[in-house]
Amino acid sequence: MRIIVGEGSCGLAAGAGSVHTKLDELFAQDNPRGVELGITGCIGMCFLEPIVDIYEDDGTLHRMVKVQAKDAQTIYDAVMGGDLSLLDKLRISAEDELFLSKQTRVALRACVVLDP
Ligand code: FES
Repeated sequence: MRIIVGEGSCGLAAGAGSVHTKLDELFAQDNPRGVELGITGCIGMCFLEPIVDIYEDDGTLHRMVKVQAKDAQTIYDAVMGGDLSLLDKLRISAEDELFLSKQTRVALRACVVLDP
């Protein structure tokens, strides 16, 4: 499982740095599932930052939006407990998901994937 924090300029302006720091602390203490913590840059939705993406081993993406440092514990507990339904209140809405799904990215196709 991978947890990717959006740390483009807008994400950092919205507090992604403190979210990352808190997640880092929690997973450094105890990480029996070997969860990888990483970053990415611009995702394309400044208005939803900080964005935290959780990728299951099969590639399934769970996108959390407007995540604050205080939510890091919830993310940690959900991932460690294997119950991602704990994150439902942080999940991106279907409407906002539509905002991205309508886009065809060519030059920006590596956004969200690349670690800057
Ligand atoms: S600068 Fe905010 S999503 Fe790209």
